[in-house]
Amino acid sequence: MTDYGNTFAGTRVLITGGLGFVGSTLAHRLVELGAHVTLVDSLIPIYGGNLRNIAGVEDRVRINIADVRDEHSMDYLVQGQNLLFNLAGQSSHLDSMTDPYTDLEINCRAQLSILEACRKQNPGLKLVYSSTRQIYGKPDYLPVDERHLLHPTDVNGVNKMAGEWYHILYNNVYGIRACALRMTNTIGPRMRVKDARQTFLGIWIKQLLGGQPIQVWGDGTQIRDFNYVDDAVEALLLAAADPNADGQIFNLGSDETINLRDLAKLLVEINGHGQYEIVPFPGDRKPIDIGDYYADYRLIQGRLGWRPKVSLREGLTRTLEFYRKEKQYYW
Ligand SMILES: NC(=O)c1ccc[n+]([C@@H]2O[C@H](COP(=O)([O-])OP(=O)(O)OC[C@H]3O[C@@H](n4cnc5c(N)ncnc54)[C@H](O)[C@@H]3O)[C@@H](O)[C@H]2O)c1
Repeated sequence: MTDYGNTFAGTRVLITGGLGFVGSTLAHRLVELGAHVTLVDSLIPIYGGNLRNIAGVEDRVRINIADVRDEHSMDYLVQGQNLLFNLAGQSSHLDSMTDPYTDLEINCRAQLSILEACRKQNPGLKLVYSSTRQIYGKPDYLPVDERHLLHPTDVNGVNKMAGEWYHILYNNVYGIRACALRMTNTIGPRMRVKDARQTFLGIWIKQLLGGQPIQVWGDGTQIRDFNYVDDAVEALLLAAADPNADGQIFNLGSDETINLRDLAKLLVEINGHGQYEIVPFPGDRKPIDIGDYYADYRLIQGRLGWRPKVSLREGLTRTLEFYRKEKQYYW
């Protein structure tokens, strides 16, 4: 197992999407590890960025409210950095269908210009890119490993796929060290719960804590895997620290799989009260649904020694506790 020890102490780290769910959790951890952290985020209201996400470390990080689509800002921001965690993204599948050009601009074009900024200004830095399981589309087989064909079901999946491959291309052609993690559903404190833009589980948490029934779409039999955000952050750090990750693509995933009906039951049980109801799939979501999905994460386990440590029950418990205390900042 890679032990990243004090790799990050004194390291200059840029996180795009650093005020979002995963980026801010990573920022908390990197501050603990002694890194000099700069967060770039546009704080576009419909995405997951929230200044409350950095409560506790706000005086120990630099914040730059900028848009990754702005090439001049990125040209400047990558300078002098040792590491770039490239997490800024438009992550709503539905929004990518109703507004495909914004998804294209952020998840595809801006990714290329970030890499161009690195090539021109700082080719010695290392990048870790947050890709997604969405690029596999509706699985041909389960669990899905990295050799599975990529046939995304929505515009978001197509653009994230391109974003991922630009990183690998720049690694292979220009020697700019880069790797990608195909993340699965990630849960935890600081996730977006206002709506279902980041994940359906966000709105479920809001419904449950607001005393409303959780709405399970479809028949509730779709299977998913989940990672607790601290485990996903650990994978990002291992990938950053280990040269074996350069040029590689790794799935994240979990040994625990669960269908949505059982997940709703589990949430209600952990909360101590509440209800769920099965409702028909919204018409606009059905054609882009990927059915059952869970990942084979043996590649990253073998190469980097990563495996998830926080159980689903524990992850949900911690998440509910967080939102009971913090809901005024997130509702
Ligand atoms: N959360 C998950 O379950 C999950 C699963 C798979 C992949 N991912 C990927 O991980 C990354 C982080 O996701 P997250 O869950 O933290 O989402 P998030 O929405 O909380 O974070 C993304 C951040 O990027 C920022 N951002 C968006 N567009 C920007 C732009 N043009 N310029 C600057 N900042 C911009 C947003 O303001 C937000 O703070 C995304 O790239 C997403 O595709 C997440």
